[in-house]
Amino acid sequence: MQAPQQFPGWRPAGPLPQTGPPPVAVPQPPHYPPPGRPPYGRNMVSLRGWPSFPEQLPEFDPAAAPDTPEELFLAWLTEAGEHVLAPHAVTLSTVDEDGAPDARVVILKDVGAPGWAVATSSDSPKGQQLQANPRAALTFFWPGRGRQVRVRGTVAPAAPEVSAADFLARPPASRAEAYLGHQSEILDDPARLPEAAAAAERWVAENPDTAPETWTRYLVRPDSVEFWQAAHDRRHLRLRYRRDGATWVRERLWP
Ligand SMILES: Cc1cc2nc3c(=O)[nH]c(=O)nc-3n(C[C@H](O)[C@H](O)[C@H](O)COP(=O)(O)O)c2cc1C
Repeated sequence: MQAPQQFPGWRPAGPLPQTGPPPVAVPQPPHYPPPGRPPYGRNMVSLRGWPSFPEQLPEFDPAAAPDTPEELFLAWLTEAGEHVLAPHAVTLSTVDEDGAPDARVVILKDVGAPGWAVATSSDSPKGQQLQANPRAALTFFWPGRGRQVRVRGTVAPAAPEVSAADFLARPPASRAEAYLGHQSEILDDPARLPEAAAAAERWVAENPDTAPETWTRYLVRPDSVEFWQAAHDRRHLRLRYRRDGATWVRERLWP
């Protein structure tokens, strides 16, 4: 196997080194790495041992959690923003027409009692998947705080004028990108891209108040929102909000 030398900490599979994963502040349990035999097959690169969380993890008291998941999310997001870039970047998971999962990172635009808003083109793969099966999951991970938030729910497109307003609030370069279209289609001839991008930029400059019909703001209305706080003793704290009519039920989960 060709060694990916640019990958710091990479080491070949084969005889498993007994020591030497990247240094971590947190002591590994005595069974790590497993004595005597590699825990993985041949031709596999072991990625175990990367430190996942900082030594200092934040406090989380599930008993003191607010009534709604949005309140707790905003508190965690704000705090995460002091430690990571793009704390509002989120993995949006959907399923395709064959029931196969698909996932990609998008930006969370707004959050509130009505739902969690993302925006994209309705003719992108994710837009088509959401039209056929309007359910999704959102997953946030903020390693610097040892925190994960999982949202599961139903998805509805916003009214056209709301989506248009979302589009027009985007910077010109982002608007031009959306006008390029063809998202995720095969780019047979990369040389066509600069010309198409320039045409999209011209269109945006000449039509500053126009939004493409396909630009869509989607509102994820959660059925559940789970907050996960890492603990170095592995007794991770998990609190799930489950929608129950007009209120939220809060439930602790086993780690
Ligand atoms: C940090 C980050 C933010 C992104 N934000 C968006 C977004 O808000 N909307 C969007 O359509 N794509 C966004 N993308 C690109 C998507 O991840 C994805 O590549 C693209 O939307 C095509 O996805 P699809 O083929 O599943 O439809 C973002 C990518 C990254 C890495």
